[in-house]
Amino acid sequence: MWRPEIELRTPEPPRIRPRRLRATDTLRRMLRETELTVNQLVHPMFVTAGSGIERPIPSMPGHSQRSVDKLPLELDEIVAAGIPAVLLFGLPESKDPKGSWAWNPEGPVPSAITELKRRAPDTVVIADVCLCEYTSHGHCGVLDDSRLVDNDATLPLLAQAAVAYAEAGADIVAPSAMMDGQVAAIRGALDSAGHGGVAILAYAAKFASAFYGPFREAAGSTPAFGDRRSYQLDPANGREALREMRLDVDEGADMVMVKPAGPYLDVIKRVRESTTLPVAAYQVSGEYAMLKAASERGWIDERRAAMESLVGIRRAGADVIITYYAKQVARWLREPQNIAV
Ligand code: PBG
Repeated sequence: MWRPEIELRTPEPPRIRPRRLRATDTLRRMLRETELTVNQLVHPMFVTAGSGIERPIPSMPGHSQRSVDKLPLELDEIVAAGIPAVLLFGLPESKDPKGSWAWNPEGPVPSAITELKRRAPDTVVIADVCLCEYTSHGHCGVLDDSRLVDNDATLPLLAQAAVAYAEAGADIVAPSAMMDGQVAAIRGALDSAGHGGVAILAYAAKFASAFYGPFREAAGSTPAFGDRRSYQLDPANGREALREMRLDVDEGADMVMVKPAGPYLDVIKRVRESTTLPVAAYQVSGEYAMLKAASERGWIDERRAAMESLVGIRRAGADVIITYYAKQVARWLREPQNIAV
């Protein structure tokens, strides 16, 4: 006959039972600390030169490169979903060492801004400001004679691009090149061009991340040589991220961003605690691709995993989330029984 080695004694019943407050869906809904709504989402879009183009991006299912004439359908969906803002990236018809299509008023981004503002004036249009999609070498700034990114020579070019997007009607410009002094340069240029009302969302803490892989395919912005580690942050550095954030605030940023989001939740939290400005977090292409790939294989439940990732980013302290999931989240939130996690 089997006998237990140790005699099990009935423990004292716990007096404190956190489970009481998790008992029903209504209780859980009432006590949920973090809310994720469509109001906090920004939908990124890749605008290409040319016409009649709608080219799906293989590593980012559900996203395509589109020419300006193909934007309206997508925009109507965004508006109908109640998503307040879009973030634009451009794929020019040609590239050169200086990235001059970045500030060309005929370029994909200014044309898209004009079109979007005409069709949906209330949608907030954010324009990414960087040279990497426009330079032949794929770096975020111009190069000096030793092929190093020349910080100070890049500043006026970024400023010129920001002014071109403001002229086209952008509400917000988002410098992502990680050049020192870029926020001040852009603020100065916007103000002297009469665009004092255009806000700056600074990619304050942008890390040199492997999670940008799919984006570089989408935007055709992979560096032709080297990498971005001399200008983007070392993934190991949290204090330095705060320093970058403070500099951008001092230079006149209206909002600050942490990017990527998921692997940097501690940075989001620290940034949230050290500034009163709105904090944005960018759930980048690789974060999206991972969730997509695993759910396509049936390894995770896409909706629950995506919502959990986004609620986590909100819980860490992000006011706004830029995510390739924006449209899907809007749909999920409209469905009955919209579980937050
Ligand atoms: C640079 C830029 C990048 C992303 C946004 N702006 C890529 C990079 O630094 O290589 C990445 C976004 C993503 O991965 O979703 N202009």
